[in-house]
Amino acid sequence: MFDAVVYRQNVETAAEAIRARIGLAPRIGLILGTGLAELAEKIEAETVIPYEEIPGFPLSTVESHPGRLLVGTLAGVPAYALQGRFHLYEGYDAPTVVFPVRVFGALGVDTLLISNAAGGMNPLYRKGDLMLLSDHINFQNANPLVGPNIDDWGDRFPDMSAPYDEELQRIAEEKALEEGIKLHRGVYVSVTGPNLETRAEYRMLRAWGADVVGMSTVPEVIAARHMNMRVLAVSVVTDECFPDALAPVSLEEIIAAAGKAEPLLTRLMSAIVSTIGA
Ligand code: HPA
Repeated sequence: MFDAVVYRQNVETAAEAIRARIGLAPRIGLILGTGLAELAEKIEAETVIPYEEIPGFPLSTVESHPGRLLVGTLAGVPAYALQGRFHLYEGYDAPTVVFPVRVFGALGVDTLLISNAAGGMNPLYRKGDLMLLSDHINFQNANPLVGPNIDDWGDRFPDMSAPYDEELQRIAEEKALEEGIKLHRGVYVSVTGPNLETRAEYRMLRAWGADVVGMSTVPEVIAARHMNMRVLAVSVVTDECFPDALAPVSLEEIIAAAGKAEPLLTRLMSAIVSTIGA
């Protein structure tokens, strides 16, 4: 059974350990997903903390995720960046998956920017395109808020009428236009994974109203909204999931596609952070 008292203590201990090692007090947190960890290179790091040096922090088991926390400035604005995230398919429970988001909350982060790799189901989307999340569907059989509610963090029944901040979406669209970056806007559906979907599943998820599908992000967004953070998330379309013309796809291809889109995403995120921080 989930022990909220111990969990909260662990979050606070981790936050203290981080605070003790840094001079900055960023209000912005970034989560860098599959193949996108290089966005971190644009961060002028004051401190780099491997996850294993943060007490209670889970460790990444996925090769494409290095597993360290960067504290520094992006476009001159103080920010934390998680280079490597945790997924349900690794075997972590939902509270563990969102542990870093809880630590961000304890550190005073009020704005969370997330990137992820996702399969494109909207037939207008192409591999390498970017999509701003306007909404999501939680189709993972898990929720990080299950168990006793920690009232100091947020409500028992948090509102989800607008999980993705409208003002941040507006800024993202404005910056995309300025930078000449094509940015779709659509719905992300989360699955547990780790297998990709069958044709029948893609057909179903598309019929539900989702534009892309992925294995992350939704638990983190739920925890962040629980703590009343503003959230913005962008997907990189790494493969085309059209059920009537589906080709096999490998993790290598997904990572390569994410890597190719990375310069665009880096430019977009830097422009957004610079605007928020101004
Ligand atoms: N399905 C689920 N997750 C994914 C996909 C996909 O097709 N592509 C990248 N992440």
